[in-house]
Amino acid sequence: MSASPSPYLAEESEFNLSEDVVTKITEMAAVFPQRNSALIPALHLIQDQFGWVPPPAIKQLAQLLKTTPNKIYGVLTFYTMFNLKPVGKYHIQVCRNVSCSLLGAKHIIEHLSKKLKIQPGETTKDNKFTLSLVECLGACGTAPVMMINDTYYENLDAKKVDGILKSLQ
Ligand code: FES
Repeated sequence: MSASPSPYLAEESEFNLSEDVVTKITEMAAVFPQRNSALIPALHLIQDQFGWVPPPAIKQLAQLLKTTPNKIYGVLTFYTMFNLKPVGKYHIQVCRNVSCSLLGAKHIIEHLSKKLKIQPGETTKDNKFTLSLVECLGACGTAPVMMINDTYYENLDAKKVDGILKSLQ
């Protein structure tokens, strides 16, 4: 009688890198003198596949780049652009750094929390929106600023936020 696979292994298999992603990472790694120079673009590819960077994918990536999961985590946790847990369909990242704070980021964050009924770090029950707070998004001249997925929204106020949320409903 064969043993059934453990739930942990079954769960891991859900996060196998696609053949396409493996091929792209392998090709990128071959271009650099040091394979792990392909780490950042490889993490983007993984996040594009899953919407976040799951631990089993990090193990596979470590093998492809001939490095260790711990070294990958060191890079992964430095950048706020990588998601360490699943996020909603729309990932709202609000800048809380100096320029944005001076121009009302706190108010924007409170308004989003109230509208979406979630706190920063949480996802709505329907998995539609995740609210995160991040450091400078590099658009200080048009503060306050937030990103939703790959799109910037600048010069925010409550009314503008309402319009943006409405357009995504
Ligand atoms: S401080 Fe918010 S974008 Fe720079």
